[in-house]
Amino acid sequence: MSGYPPEFRESIKRVEETREERLSYTPPRMSDEEKEKLLHKFHPDYKKEAKRPIKVGASKGEYAPHEVVNLIEAHSYLYVNALSKGIEIDLEDPDYDVDVLVIGGGGGGATATLWALYSGIPRDRILLATKLRFGDANTKMAQGGIQAADREYDSPVIHFLDVMRGGHYTNNPELVKILVTNAPFIIKWLEELGVMFDKDPDGTMVEVPGGGTSRYRLHSAGDYTGLEIMRTLMDEVWNRDIPILEFSPAVELLTDDEGNVAGAVLMNLETGRYLVVRAKSTILTTGGFGRLHIQGFQTTNHYGATMDGVVLAYRVGAQIRDLDSVQYHPTGAAFPLQIAGQLVTEKVRSLGAQLVNTDGEAFVYPLEPRDVVAAAIIRECEERKKGVITHVGTCGVWLDSPMIEIIKGEGTIERYLPAMLRQFMRFGIDIRKEPILVYPTLHYQNGGIKIGTNAQVLGDGEKPIGNLFAAGEVTGGVHGKNRLMGNSLLEITVFGRIAGINAAKNAKHNHVGKLTLKHVYKWEEMLKQAGIETDRVSPMILPDYRGDIKYR
Ligand code: FUM
Repeated sequence: MSGYPPEFRESIKRVEETREERLSYTPPRMSDEEKEKLLHKFHPDYKKEAKRPIKVGASKGEYAPHEVVNLIEAHSYLYVNALSKGIEIDLEDPDYDVDVLVIGGGGGGATATLWALYSGIPRDRILLATKLRFGDANTKMAQGGIQAADREYDSPVIHFLDVMRGGHYTNNPELVKILVTNAPFIIKWLEELGVMFDKDPDGTMVEVPGGGTSRYRLHSAGDYTGLEIMRTLMDEVWNRDIPILEFSPAVELLTDDEGNVAGAVLMNLETGRYLVVRAKSTILTTGGFGRLHIQGFQTTNHYGATMDGVVLAYRVGAQIRDLDSVQYHPTGAAFPLQIAGQLVTEKVRSLGAQLVNTDGEAFVYPLEPRDVVAAAIIRECEERKKGVITHVGTCGVWLDSPMIEIIKGEGTIERYLPAMLRQFMRFGIDIRKEPILVYPTLHYQNGGIKIGTNAQVLGDGEKPIGNLFAAGEVTGGVHGKNRLMGNSLLEITVFGRIAGINAAKNAKHNHVGKLTLKHVYKWEEMLKQAGIETDRVSPMILPDYRGDIKYR
């Protein structure tokens, strides 16, 4: 018996009836002009009323979604809950004194930690602090794979062109060059650490295509690639006995009397106690903003994805970029509602599944870049009225997964998509036999803190902010205004490594002065000067689901 309700039967029948014909038909790729037209009309990023300019700080005038600006233009959590109430933060006697502080316990944080160690920082002079548990991050939830041009018919140059084109040429080319040229090394390093990538019986890596990639270069471990990479990185951090502080989000950075970053104030989530960490180098790897549910979208992101790092860096003068650009992954689960918004990996399309509407018509080339596919699905639902409506009024289209078994042979889904198979089987839906109902879901923060090629955070006039580094989703520039599949696991490892190496280098020769929270008072003054009256505080730390949220 199917887990789908009877009212979906008619539509599923049409998908089945058209399958044979569709096996020999794929919708053509769109021209750049067609893509632009589609994006302007249907991609949520192009809704002008959904954004406003930031009124204060180093990137004043930059546009971002209201949900993002609300957090940026908010009062300091530490100011409201401690400083303004006369609660003292003892900066004279820090709870921790380290060379390198890493804030964020996902793949970027783990990688930065390891490379700080490999670069000569003693294990007990490093501290990895994380909001939830070590590993509670989007890395573990990444499914499809990691890109690297390591085959004969491919090259980092082709990878570079794909990334730039996918990002509409808005990327920072210097950062893209670093991303793609380091990719083959990263795959080797991860393998040496113990990541078990999918291989053919003769030992060659299985590599598949992704949206917007012109070559087969996606390396995977089934459809739990991020989990496998994170498992390995965590093991290495644990084996090296590096100190980890869990359930301790950063609520503010610290600066010294010369205005350089000098560590952070953390908060123990259980006791509410503030902890002062003095550090010669600080690395932000706090991830993105999925839990802001921008424009009412569901999200694939983990519970802690609340953009904390951007907020903290902005208050010490960092510039931001491309935060107006949000990645809606085209295929979030639209049914069953218990898993609405959760990721249905792009690899389902890489392996041959088409996107079809309620009448069984394939309406988009399945491996266009993500923003294009997401916009095409929204068009199908909103304009063409060819989506499938659920009992709560949300809309979806079919991802025809049974095609995979026909094209690639029986057993392919079980072998390459075991997590997907299990996820839907729990609700009585066998994706080998029935299609999956999907709709775009908030997946990734394309932009973020501006960084340079050494992962140093940049402030006004592109001047590095002393002692502050950042890597991964918290940063902007690598992906421009649209990231391609498989480049986030690559980004966190490539730039996590660079951040770790440079933070270590910096810590070996610098000197941290007297700790201060001057920038927090300055920030509060700037809000006042800009006429911003609000009772919002940030960082958000954890999302608040008590209100009535209307999801799309
Ligand atoms: O579709 C996916 O598996 C997601 C991959 C990514 O965002 O890189």
